[in-house]
Amino acid sequence: MFGRIARRYDLANHLLSGGADFLWRRRAAKIVEGWRPRRVLDLATGSGDLALAIQRRLPDATIIAADFSPEMLKVARSKGVRETVLADAMHLPFESGSFDCVTVAFGLRNMSDWNLALGETARVLSKDGHLLVLDFSLPVGTLRPTYRFYLHRCLPFLASLVTGQKSAYDYLGGSIEKFPSGEEMMRLIEESGFVNAAVQPLTGGIAAIYTAQTLRTL
Ligand SMILES: C[S@@+](CC[C@H](N)C(=O)[O-])C[C@H]1O[C@@H](n2cnc3c(N)ncnc32)[C@H](O)[C@@H]1O
Repeated sequence: MFGRIARRYDLANHLLSGGADFLWRRRAAKIVEGWRPRRVLDLATGSGDLALAIQRRLPDATIIAADFSPEMLKVARSKGVRETVLADAMHLPFESGSFDCVTVAFGLRNMSDWNLALGETARVLSKDGHLLVLDFSLPVGTLRPTYRFYLHRCLPFLASLVTGQKSAYDYLGGSIEKFPSGEEMMRLIEESGFVNAAVQPLTGGIAAIYTAQTLRTL
């Protein structure tokens, strides 16, 4: 599915989010910069926008961008992502403790086993490593019904005009409905081997950034 939409993926993202996705990735990259990591893995990198934003802020760090879609990785490389690896996030081809930061933007939700993917992420992180997950969530309160209407009725139609692939965007709404958010997401992260999970809602709760750490050994 991602291979089919790779070519128009960026355009669809920017149009359908009204440009908010730029701000969300900028916020995520700024948080990562504050951790001063030397080796970063951007999982489910897609067309590489988060990897590029981190690359710009941390020019001396090694940023590895991984995805299981060769079409997406081709787009990422054409935009300037330096190191890409074709890999399934649930079976990563990296040794334990290889990275001091792992990021995943709009990717975890699409994986078939969230616990397994987060457990693999914890494995490849060093002790005291950092996790950042950026993904959609459902806003609470009065915005929720309006947002749901947009998500299920308007977005698939608009996306089909941009990408020619309505089914991929029918899937998007359902995947957001099923994906845990807020406290539930923090619990999932901590159950998978992390501590200090925290959440920052974005744009009225349409998206959120979750951060957590692996345990420091004394
Ligand atoms: C919605 S895109 C997100 C891309 C990018 N991170 C962004 O912020 O725009 C989801 C990406 O996750 C990738 N993906 C989904 N499941 C994966 C898995 N198990 N392993 C690696 N990549 C995966 C897809 O190929 C796709 O490129």
